[in-house]
Amino acid sequence: MKEKLEQIKQEALKQIEASDALEKLNEVRVNFLGKKGELTAVLKSMKDVAPEDRPKVGQLVNETREEIEKVLETAKTKMERAVREAKMKSEVIDVTLPAKKNNVGHRHPNTIALEEVERIFVGMGYEVVEGPEVEKDYYNFEALNIPADHPAKDEQDTFYVTGDILLRTQTSPVQVREMEKGKLPIRMIAPGRVFRSDEVDATHSPSFHQIEGLVIDKNITFADLKGTLAEFAKELFGEETKVKFRPHHFPFTEPSAEVDVSCFKCGGKGCRFCKGSGWIEILGCGMVHPRVLKTSGIDPEEYSGFAFGVGLERIALLKYEIDDMRLLYENDIRFLKQF
Ligand code: DAH
Repeated sequence: MKEKLEQIKQEALKQIEASDALEKLNEVRVNFLGKKGELTAVLKSMKDVAPEDRPKVGQLVNETREEIEKVLETAKTKMERAVREAKMKSEVIDVTLPAKKNNVGHRHPNTIALEEVERIFVGMGYEVVEGPEVEKDYYNFEALNIPADHPAKDEQDTFYVTGDILLRTQTSPVQVREMEKGKLPIRMIAPGRVFRSDEVDATHSPSFHQIEGLVIDKNITFADLKGTLAEFAKELFGEETKVKFRPHHFPFTEPSAEVDVSCFKCGGKGCRFCKGSGWIEILGCGMVHPRVLKTSGIDPEEYSGFAFGVGLERIALLKYEIDDMRLLYENDIRFLKQF
């Protein structure tokens, strides 16, 4: 029995010695000390040992078990340390290497210009609202006093989805949607994307952005419109900026005007930037047509209002002196980073 135990021990030590992974060590533990292991088998064969020899044999078995366990434990600790050290070595960080530069995103010139316009109007108590880009003919044209046979409809080459659903050609339909809600007074701006079937060039794109403005209240006059837009121009282009209202025609406003600002480059003397005129056109506006008010459920005898529409790209191009609109859509990081 003693030799048998010695033999088991030697075999176990040999296998521990040969183990090169923690899993192998575990296998050795199971094979020798486990429930079905060799030492347990010896204990099970105790019934064949003479009763007076049993305590001695039992003690021998226990000693053998303890010895194997001790060697196993030492081997395991050693192996674990080696694994940890190898891992640390492979994951070493060179703190002298230059740090990886994290490129933080940058706002698009359109976004910067829009936030500026929003800041100005929110400061005057306006609400910022939105309308759908896929719009009904009714809101885009009909309710804005542009009936099917109106020549103004030709000016805006339109993408139609079906006969009476289209990609909005202007943000003006949001005026109608707001008025229809029936909550007065209204002081809103509505920025958003608009679409026209235009060829791409330095000043045109089939998709661009507008900011619509609408004020409806009692006793709103053209003087309110003038004062508001004069203040807007000053805030946007500088305190010295003057505005000029030129008579114009829009079907949904009466009277209507186009607004020019004095050239903020030359102060109005005339330069290359303003093409020598001293003025730069920035938006269309007017007093909301009584028919538009009535169509949207507002009594034109009681209420009046003004509206305006600004091209967002136009503002961005002017403000940052960009001479080609296409640059705004190419998303060349080198270009965008300048603003
Ligand atoms: N919707 C017009 C356009 O796209 C711009 C415009 C002009 C809007 C006059 C208005 C306005 O609200 O009063 O050309």
